[in-house]
Order: sequence, then structure tokens, then C-alpha cells
Amino acid sequence: MGIARKPVLGIKPYIPGKPIEEVKRELGIEGDIIKLASNENPLGPSPRATEAVKSMLKSLHLYPDDTSYYLKNKLSEHLNIPVDYIITGNGSCELIHLVAKACINPGEKVVLSKPTFIMGKIESQIFEAELVEIPVKNNRHDIDAIIDALDNKTKLLYIDNPNNPLGSMLTADELDRVVKSLPENTLLIVDEAYREYITREDFPETIDYVRKGLNVIVLRTFSKIYGLAGLRVGYGIARPEIINILHRVRLPFNVNSIAQKAAIAALDDTEHIERSRKLVEEGKSFFYKEFEKMGIYYIPSEANFVTIKLEMDAKEINSKLMKKGIIARPLNPYGLKNYLRVTIGTLEENAKFIDALKEIIT
Ligand SMILES: Cc1ncc(COP(=O)(O)O)c(C=O)c1O
Repeated sequence: MGIARKPVLGIKPYIPGKPIEEVKRELGIEGDIIKLASNENPLGPSPRATEAVKSMLKSLHLYPDDTSYYLKNKLSEHLNIPVDYIITGNGSCELIHLVAKACINPGEKVVLSKPTFIMGKIESQIFEAELVEIPVKNNRHDIDAIIDALDNKTKLLYIDNPNNPLGSMLTADELDRVVKSLPENTLLIVDEAYREYITREDFPETIDYVRKGLNVIVLRTFSKIYGLAGLRVGYGIARPEIINILHRVRLPFNVNSIAQKAAIAALDDTEHIERSRKLVEEGKSFFYKEFEKMGIYYIPSEANFVTIKLEMDAKEINSKLMKKGIIARPLNPYGLKNYLRVTIGTLEENAKFIDALKEIIT
């Protein structure tokens, strides 16, 4: 087709987890559906965020605050970093887009793992980067190979920590090795979408690299533990020179007014955050035990999901699960045909998932 730019034709669109309504429509299911496909918080949003949303309903005729003033100030306090080190986005996905848009000249290299969260790859293709995909080793980012791949043509290095879809993480020492190997004009994007679930002490304090003035941008989101995926709000932390170039390429009013208000409220609800974290810890222990009993290989995870390896095509298993009212995430689009990623749900949802899986594979 002559209309599209050439690189656009080579892009495979992002495939999100199937929405509940779509599965109901397609399969004619009447009852409840359990969605364990998109690493959302099964407890829902914080009640404080819900109240904040309600408080905004009468001002929907007004444009949002383009600068996210109050949200950025709240984050600045929360992270103990000046406000001009922070940019908010329409989910952290938008921030990956802005970095790619602001930084990549055609033909420059983008280094990332295979598999990794897929938006880094898609954005690299849009902006005609040379994509360098480094296969993971033992289900973890292969930092030796990543470091070997870096050169002065490398504009971006994208690392999701923990990795989606594997759930494994880099330790502070490992990330330190990567940072020390960064070429002068390479920007390291560390995507910490699952940061708030981490309980390990050896997880890196990535923001310290930003404080030191290095070429590092840290991405975080309100879509996961804060339970606000539907509102689309995330943020990036980098030194002001980097934040300023991102502002040049973003659309006005990229974070809507409801999202800004709800995110502020969610950040303060430590009780909801703690409850969410605990639920995930309990859910993972339950899954691990059940998978072991069933002889299913799983990858221990630091995030709110677990990836398992099955004896058959995960897409088929997922179709069968959907017929039983459960949506999980087959990893075929990541080139992992027999792998299925399952989000930790409520204890009841987890038990239903295990029962359904048992029925399908035995
Ligand atoms: C590593 C990673 N980054 C970013 C995102 C997307 O986050 P957001 O909803 O903030 O765009 C996800 C969602 O699954 C993710 O796994």
C-alpha cells in the first residue's frame, strides 16, 4: 500500500490481553470472567482513587493541567527528587514512545532483550532504528551479551526490570555493570513497571543513577500495583536536559485530568499498596506449589505474574481456558509458543485458574 511509510508496514501491532467484554461477546459466555492476562491489580483501584475520580466529574469540560503540576509535585516529594526531573505520560508506554521519537535517528541502534516488553521493539521499528535483540540466558537479561552489543552507534538500551514476560530481575550489581559500560551517547531506559512489587533487597536504586546525572531514564506506572491501568498514567525520571527533549515531542494534555487526580490519591494509599503486594506474594506461593504438584515448569517471578511452560501450544490452552471463563496470556507473539503468562489474581481466581488448567492438561 502506497500510503504508509515503509517501516510501518513491517510492524506487527501490539496484541493486548483480551478484554472481558470481548471474550463474553465472542464466546457467548454469560457468567463471570476472570482476567489474568494483563498484570492488572485484582483488588481494583484504591478507594481513595475512586473518590478522587468522582470529585472530577463536574469539571470534565475543562482541559487538564498540561504540566501535571500537582501530580509531579506529589511524585517529587514521594521520590525525593526535584520536579524538573519528572515527566508524566499516558501510561509508561507513551514515555517509551516519546524517548524513541525524541532520540532515534534512522539507522541508529536500539539494544534490547528477547523477549522483553514489546513496545521497545515497536517504537524502534517506527523510528527506523537498527534493532539489536539479545536473547535472554536462563530466562534473565544476558548482561554480558548486552554489554558486548553496545557501541557508539547505540542510541538506546531498553531494559525492563523485572522483565515482562519472564518476571526475572537484574540485581543492583548487575545493573551497575551495565551502567558503567554505557557509551557516551547511549540513553539507558530502565522500565520499572513492577517496581512496587519487589521485596528483594538487591533490587537496584535506579534513580540514584539519575541523581548522578547519568544518561538513564527510569519509567514507572500507575497501571500495576496502583490499579489505575484504565486511566493511563505513568511517569519518567531523568535529568532535566532529557526531560526537556521529551516535552518537545509530546502532545498537549497527554495525561487527562481524572488520571492526574486519581494518581495523587493512589500514591498515598499505603494500605491498599501493602494489601496488593501481600496478595501477590501469597498468590505466587500458591501457584508455585500447584505447578510443582502438576510437574509444570515455571519461572520464579519478582512481579505480579508467573510464566509457565506447557507441553502444547499456549494459544490452544488459552482458548480452552477462555471457554471456561478465564483469560490468560499466551506468549506466542514473543516467539514463546508453549509459554503462558498468568497474572496473580485474588486467591479465589488463582484457585479457579489452577482447577481449569488441571482439567485441560489432564
Ligand atoms: C515492562 C512494562 N512496561 C510498561 C507497561 C505498560 O504500562 P502502562 O500501562 O503504564 O503503559 C507494561 C505493561 O504490561 C510492562 O509490562
